[in-house]
Amino acid sequence: MTLKYINAVISDVSNDNSLPVLDGNLGPSAVDIQTLYSRHSLLAFDPGFRSTASCKSAITFVDGDNGVLLYRGYPIEELADSSNFIEVAYLLMRGELPDAKSLKEFQDLLHQHNLLHEQIMTFYRGFRRDAHPMAIMVGVVGALSAFYHDVMDISDADSRYLAAVRLIGKMPMIAAASYTYSIGRPQRYPNNKLDYASNFLQMMFGSPVMEYTVDPVLARAFDVILILHADHEQNASTSTVRLAASSGANPFACIAAGIASLWGPAHGGANEAVLKMLNDIGTVENIPKAVTRAKDKNDSFRLMGFGHRIYKNFDPRSRVIQEQAKKVLAHLGKDDPMLEIAIRLEEIAIKDEYFIERKLYPNVDFYSGIMLRAMGFPVNMFTAVFALARTAGWVSHWLELQEESHGIDRPRQLYVGKPLRHYPAKK
Ligand code: ACO
Repeated sequence: MTLKYINAVISDVSNDNSLPVLDGNLGPSAVDIQTLYSRHSLLAFDPGFRSTASCKSAITFVDGDNGVLLYRGYPIEELADSSNFIEVAYLLMRGELPDAKSLKEFQDLLHQHNLLHEQIMTFYRGFRRDAHPMAIMVGVVGALSAFYHDVMDISDADSRYLAAVRLIGKMPMIAAASYTYSIGRPQRYPNNKLDYASNFLQMMFGSPVMEYTVDPVLARAFDVILILHADHEQNASTSTVRLAASSGANPFACIAAGIASLWGPAHGGANEAVLKMLNDIGTVENIPKAVTRAKDKNDSFRLMGFGHRIYKNFDPRSRVIQEQAKKVLAHLGKDDPMLEIAIRLEEIAIKDEYFIERKLYPNVDFYSGIMLRAMGFPVNMFTAVFALARTAGWVSHWLELQEESHGIDRPRQLYVGKPLRHYPAKK
């Protein structure tokens, strides 16, 4: 019986084309199984979505086998080298790079929308002062829906765009305040003379009673971090945003759901784990022991920052970030032994048969923690920085989804619970 069904599906695909194969512009084709259930009473089983294209998207392309990442067709290396985060955010949202006039207008619009309603600032006081910044961000971003719900008509394109701009504009102050609240320091306001990265740095590290001059080298390095993390196609948090949005939910609530998903150690929290691992390794001499442990099937230890669900080659972002980390440390005159351990560990691991065979290469998280720590970020802010950057991607996917009309997402399941049984008759 099962074989009959499988054969029917295969012949559907190969013969009468009633399960069409869809070609994208780049990357693998996809079998369109939308009629699989109605034609064959079959579901596709793909937990973890390893073989599932959940949507069509024109925003970001990842070729994991060749280590390629494109935003709207532009290679990440070129954007990191020549662009800035605001331009990249515009590109992700609108599909094309802005000309000088459009970029200026976009920048002005973000400046208009970068303040938080003063009443929102009172929310922070409701959190314990030792709350994780991501816990605060989930709450505060979700709360924005209570402030803008009345003027939010998601059937109107201008209204949607304004919601997306508000999210990108306000996120630096939301993230910075989640840190300053935890150390008991009053929050500085944005300064509209500064660019996006510099503004975040002054709100994060500046004191309200003193001048704060942003170091341009650090601001540029931070801007590159934002560019590298801005989008990464249908990852867990972006898929969460899309799934929440498919019901027509408020955009601020959808982005809050994305932040919640990003928080986990398997997603946004991995660079924190890298720092802990490098710290545990301690010295260059201990590296071979760590590599041996990582290869041992009876040991749960893994090289954190190595391997990726999609990249089976170098994560192109890891090369850019390694360069930036070196620049930042040299600029600050910091000789962080962790950087030396990381570089040596990478050199040893990528020549090792175990890692070559399994196509395990450094991912973006391998160097980002070292760099953020050198810049003064506490470890629990690493994921908040990721959320700040990824907001550009989330809102772009949210905008793209609103243009589609496939209705609410509703995955099915393979039921493995009890078959029908009856409640025992009362004695
Ligand atoms: N160290 C040692 N061995 C590893 C590692 C690692 N970091 N990653 C994978 N392997 C091994 C596995 O043990 C497995 O070996 P086997 O085939 O002999 O059983 C093989 O490589 C394949 O591993 P999977 O877990 O099946 O690979 P998958 O692609 O599903 O996992 C993942 C990717 C989860 C990222 C994994 O490589 C990992 O745990 N890496 C460390 C954590 C990390 O850096 N996460 C950040 C990801 S990047 C991001 O989210 C932005």
